[in-house]
Amino acid sequence: MKQALYIDCCIRGEASRTRKLAEAFFAALPEAWQVTTVNLMKEDFRPLSGEFFERRETLLKSGKTDDPRFDRARELAAADLIVIAAPFWDMSFPALLKVYIENVSVEGITFRSTAEGLKGLCAAERCVFLTTRGGAYPAGDPLEQAVPYLRAIQMFFGIGDLTCVAADGLDLDGADPEALLANACAEATALARTL
Ligand SMILES: Cc1cc2nc3c(=O)[nH]c(=O)nc-3n(C[C@H](O)[C@H](O)[C@H](O)COP(=O)(O)O)c2cc1C
Repeated sequence: MKQALYIDCCIRGEASRTRKLAEAFFAALPEAWQVTTVNLMKEDFRPLSGEFFERRETLLKSGKTDDPRFDRARELAAADLIVIAAPFWDMSFPALLKVYIENVSVEGITFRSTAEGLKGLCAAERCVFLTTRGGAYPAGDPLEQAVPYLRAIQMFFGIGDLTCVAADGLDLDGADPEALLANACAEATALARTL
């Protein structure tokens, strides 16, 4: 079976509109996919600092990439499809997702160093980023820093392609958030059916 890894960063839980977008996507994803969820709100990831950072350095210097500390990195590297759901916060995505990325960015698992530069080691050919935003940000808007950063990470980890589905402008005056979200859910549904 093909393995999909769902990275859930919908911090507002049941109230999250991004979570609803993700639910529409997974409802339409063909049954050939086995989905594993990483609920970032329930994980104990920490930013790399102090003793937590030193311990990681020691493990990596001694080549212990099989340590349980790197389970999530190995899981990411092995998945065939990565799906990230996160709201737009402070011109990007929540820090919780950055902390996850920091913890799965592990030399020898998700990337390696070569004479030609860094090479991604992740198997996934596709990455899907599902998001909702209070404001509206057309593709390429310099104020929107979530997608450009995730594209850089996708290339760094060697993941084939990143597709973003966004519900934009949900908190703008006069907006119809239900209609905007419904449009994005339809887009997410159509995308999932192609996978
Ligand atoms: C902490 C926080 C930061 C936010 N920052 C931004 C922002 O920088 N730009 C913006 O357009 N909307 C911002 N918003 C609005 C959210 O992007 C918007 O309400 C989104 O739909 C929330 O997703 P959710 O329902 O999945 O939580 C912010 C909301 C919160 C709670």
